[in-house]
Amino acid sequence: TPQLFIDTDPGVDDALAILMAHAHADVLGLSIAAGNVGLEHTVRNARTLVDLVGASTPIFAGSPSPLVRLPEENAAFVHGRDGLGDVGFPEPESEVANEHAALALLRLTRERPGEITLVALAPLTNLALALKLDPTLPQRVKRLVIMGGAVTGHGNTGRVPAEFNLGFDPEAAHIVFEGFPDFDLVDWELTLRHAFDEADFDQWLATGDRRAAFFGRVSQVARETNRERGRRGVIAADALAMAVAIDPTVVKRSERHHVGIELDGRLTRGATVVDWGNRLKLPARANVVLELDRAKFGAMARRALGAE
Ligand code: BDR
Ligand code: CA
Repeated sequence: TPQLFIDTDPGVDDALAILMAHAHADVLGLSIAAGNVGLEHTVRNARTLVDLVGASTPIFAGSPSPLVRLPEENAAFVHGRDGLGDVGFPEPESEVANEHAALALLRLTRERPGEITLVALAPLTNLALALKLDPTLPQRVKRLVIMGGAVTGHGNTGRVPAEFNLGFDPEAAHIVFEGFPDFDLVDWELTLRHAFDEADFDQWLATGDRRAAFFGRVSQVARETNRERGRRGVIAADALAMAVAIDPTVVKRSERHHVGIELDGRLTRGATVVDWGNRLKLPARANVVLELDRAKFGAMARRALGAE
């Protein structure tokens, strides 16, 4: 069973990813970032999710803002103002640990060197902080899987070529992309190519499991927004990255490349620059995932929703 430490900003697709993680892996901790919505909401949403799965997963709050520049936008228009579809859940019971997310990551990887798969589903602020505190962190991590980047298209932010997680805190992304010698990259366009069929997904939601009922409620706003934007299917970026973290054999095709993060561009700040032809002769640290096994991915999501 994989041992996961998940950095996340829940978030509707984060929620599905967290349900998948608890159905298929040992979750050693959730470290919480600001991103989709503010940290006060993402922390509360993580508590709601831990209540839902009935686990005692520790929750560590991280940085309330990006490293350098304040964000220009959040993703409340997709995830709801509270980040979970504005359903209005009661105050959760799960508590927040008294340790910063970055410090918890460093401690846990010291306690279990080489055992932990790190899953990054949010802006990379907390991971960058941890790396700056201790640049030897990557030596103790088994794998790093990052949801982020616009590799084969234009991404999903106000800046045309940037994806949300990397565009929200480009400096943090740069630090992580330079500091980790090896990571899997699940980008936005991979997400669009691997959306769930709406009718299939609605069947999985109709099974009566409380996780399915929960996800059905929190995902309404996001599904409507995506339909309005002409996107097809149920889009679940973070769940895709989680599938890769849980079972590497879900990857059908990937290519290793150098991926840089644009920090200065007038129009392109936050963009992912993939050196497809190795012209820069820089280390190819990113394993860019290009195709996934849909059947395996679907089966993992179904189990997470109690639909099998
Ligand atoms: C990423 O941004 C967030 O809105 C999602 O939760 C996902 O992590 C997709 O670009
Ligand atoms: Ca996310």
